[in-house]
Amino acid sequence: THMYNIYCKLILLMWLMMCVVDKSAFVSSAQQGEVESGTRRKIKRLLSFQRYCHASRLLRGLVPHTPGSLHLLDDDYLGQAAHMLSKVGTWNFDIFLFDRLTNGNSLVTLMCHLFNVYGLIHHFQLDMVKLHRFLGMVQEDYHSQNPYHNAVHAADVTQAMYCYLKEPKLAEQLSPLDVFLGLMAAAAHDVDHPGVNQPFLIKTRHHLASLYQNTSVLESHHWRSTVGMLRESGLLSHLPADMSQDMEQQLGSLILATDISRQNEFLLTFREHLDNQDLDLQLASHRHFILQIALKCADVCNPCRVWELSRQWSERVCEEFYRQGDLERKFDLEISPLCNQQADSVPSIQIGFISYIVEPLFEEWHRFTEPSLLSQTMMGHLHKNKARWNKYLSVCTMLLEQ
Ligand SMILES: *[C@@H]1O[C@H](CO)[C@@H](O)[C@H](O)[C@H]1NC(C)=O
Ligand SMILES: [Zn+2]
Repeated sequence: THMYNIYCKLILLMWLMMCVVDKSAFVSSAQQGEVESGTRRKIKRLLSFQRYCHASRLLRGLVPHTPGSLHLLDDDYLGQAAHMLSKVGTWNFDIFLFDRLTNGNSLVTLMCHLFNVYGLIHHFQLDMVKLHRFLGMVQEDYHSQNPYHNAVHAADVTQAMYCYLKEPKLAEQLSPLDVFLGLMAAAAHDVDHPGVNQPFLIKTRHHLASLYQNTSVLESHHWRSTVGMLRESGLLSHLPADMSQDMEQQLGSLILATDISRQNEFLLTFREHLDNQDLDLQLASHRHFILQIALKCADVCNPCRVWELSRQWSERVCEEFYRQGDLERKFDLEISPLCNQQADSVPSIQIGFISYIVEPLFEEWHRFTEPSLLSQTMMGHLHKNKARWNKYLSVCTMLLEQ
């Protein structure tokens, strides 16, 4: 791999030299600027290809974001953040920018805004101080050192969930309770994620694995942590006990649905409902099922975003996998699938993820929405992004075979 690495760089270097030499030899000076910028573009593109061949060391140090470089009280940034919130329902919403403008408070800011939009504070007679305390705890309990499973991912999933709740097929049918639970589950669904996966926790005999008996270990932890914070903040303490208990249970059922190993179970049921056309959104149980599916979609919707956003999520998730792989190597454990930086490239991981997880789920969602404008947009991005990763992959393979 090391030799291949050097080889790759050599080929790249030769190609760059050829580019520069043959272009400048016969181009008039008037065209020079244009060609130069064209060449620079080509070089940039090639560098980005090469980046994905083994890539992510280059990203190391770039990916972890350090909230706090902006001042909380900077009116200009907050003004821009407020302006962004006026477009929070648009699919190309840039959550990374929003997180910077809110000084790393994207999750709290977004949730407060959406609760206001839906009038949930009034409807459930929520105490603003308790709500802030609860949301602050949730945001804090995400690990900002995780390249992927951090509070920005939670905010991103919440924003996607909001877009799905607004789907014409769904919006009219949803009760305030549905909306409340949908948003809460999205915001908290990965809370206190350790940045490693369940097999890692099992094989290192982590206490969470034995606590939850090796099944839905992370998802159970996200849910129980959320319940703990709900009770500690007293957010629901004014409600009748059976109501707050029901809310906790429903939150659990939503968060546990994000366990990817249960994807087939959900997909088969969803497909069956669509084939039989027997979904009745007047029924609370059917609405709950659709909320589970919507949350699952929101959780894996990265490849359905516009390329510039999608690409950043891809790099982040792979970086998190590679870090787990590095830990496994360091402790002489077997390296988990997708976590080997030398063997698993960003494009190949993304193509697998899209083909086996994202496409099957979104094809059914697309059907469910009959298909909505948003669904069509998402499918468009999904296909374009997949084609792009395939192109990167073939360039990597070509370089490898030369
Ligand atoms: C969980 O997995 C570990 C490692 O495979 C095993 O030793 C343990 O008995 C399992 N625990 C349960 C409750 O299945
Ligand atoms: Zn997630």
